[in-house]
Amino acid sequence: MTDVLHADGLHRSYRLPRRGPFEPGPVRTAVDGVDLTVAPGARLGIVGESGSGKSTLVRLLAGLEAPSAGTVTASGRPVVASGSAAAMRWFRRETGVVFQDPYASLDPRMRVGSIVAEPLRALRIGGSAAARASLVRDVLERVDLPADAVDRYPHEFSGGQRQRIAIARAVVHSPRILFGDEPMSALDVVVRARVIDLFRSLADDLGLTLVLVSHDIGVVQRLCDTVAVMSAGRIVEHGPVSLLDAPQHPVTRALVEAAPTLP
Ligand SMILES: Nc1ncnc2c1ncn2[C@@H]1O[C@H](COP(=O)(O)OP(=O)(O)OP(=O)(O)O)[C@@H](O)[C@H]1O
Ligand SMILES: [Mg+2]
Repeated sequence: MTDVLHADGLHRSYRLPRRGPFEPGPVRTAVDGVDLTVAPGARLGIVGESGSGKSTLVRLLAGLEAPSAGTVTASGRPVVASGSAAAMRWFRRETGVVFQDPYASLDPRMRVGSIVAEPLRALRIGGSAAARASLVRDVLERVDLPADAVDRYPHEFSGGQRQRIAIARAVVHSPRILFGDEPMSALDVVVRARVIDLFRSLADDLGLTLVLVSHDIGVVQRLCDTVAVMSAGRIVEHGPVSLLDAPQHPVTRALVEAAPTLP
């Protein structure tokens, strides 16, 4: 079977603002030569210190940003983030993304029902409005939100519930791959544990492949079967999550030693 996701020689650099009229801005490299294969059904955790390029890598893999060099393919097909919305629709159908901040990622003027239905409208899934509403009701129930949530606004919900809304929106169209960029980091410990459980059960039930960025080693140990450790834009260690029990690379060792132990 072809890999769900495959990255080959990925680079991403940014030109920072100019320093003067005759001096071009310096270039910062966020991702510096990443090759990565994600097998179907894998649960990959991406860890690394702040600024190591985790978010940039996940944006490249999710087709939200184009690489400066290198390629991403999904099931053997090239993902061209710079292409048109129509050209990317097949990839959007296969993927969902959850970000860190459940306050910033939900439009405060939209009702929850419309927020969660957005991918269905954009991807032209579900046919009629009634069919879409039924898919939305199902997914809200799946993430343990009350049925009347559809008519309410994001500000009426707690941080943990908002993250459930964001998760519902990410999976309403039954994607194959779910990306998360620190989706539990803004939540307190108890809520975080419940959201971890939700991710796990969704991955089980929907057969999702997970690609999850977290600075929290404990989250990755609970949820992932594979881990990639990043440092300065590169993957320095990659393998089964058990490698965190006996880290080889100094960067991994430092991350594991700095991690608070979860109860
Ligand atoms: N849009 C951008 N413009 C300029 N520099 C950027 C941009 N995005 C990322 N960078 C830089 O690239 C590097 C990697 O950033 P990235 O956000 O991917 O790291 P990260 O591992 O997700 O960090 P954190 O754990 O703090 O979220 C950093 O030095 C960052 O400042
Ligand atoms: Mg980040």
